[in-house]
Amino acid sequence: MDLKAVAYRELHGQLTGLFAGERNGLANAANLSALLYEALPNLNWAGFYFLQGRELVLGPFQGKVACVRIALGQGVCGTAAARRETVIVEDVQAFPGHIACDAASRSEIVVPLLHKGQLLGVLDLDSPQLARFDQEDGSGLNALAALLLECSDLNRYVDSGG
Ligand code: SME
Repeated sequence: MDLKAVAYRELHGQLTGLFAGERNGLANAANLSALLYEALPNLNWAGFYFLQGRELVLGPFQGKVACVRIALGQGVCGTAAARRETVIVEDVQAFPGHIACDAASRSEIVVPLLHKGQLLGVLDLDSPQLARFDQEDGSGLNALAALLLECSDLNRYVDSGG
């Protein structure tokens, strides 16, 4: 197992401790954004958007102030949500429709939050470094997002229109 995979495994262990006995979704999402922002190198933003109807609405995050509403299908976040799959963008300037919240951002990864087949939102990480994220970040972040969903009640922050 390489260094990145080991780092994500350690984060998974830390998060299990952090979430023990606490199911508040807002608190757990806030702590996950803080943990990622602290622990992962070369990030300038880490946080959540939650689904409200046909839009993603800003949730807990670390970094500069960000746009509050993103339509499904728009930007990297809306694309990952609409496709229900992880999107890794090596160069945000080459991604049509990228929404620039912080001009320093150069690359981005967005992981959809899917619980029992239902889309709840996305986890979004930005970096000032080109091609900062790879498949291993995708696997690691998906595992952390799955732990958040398993350990937390997030439904009250989500309106999936159904
Ligand atoms: N860049 C994102 C918008 C959110 S911010 O990066 C925090 C996008 O294109 O969806």
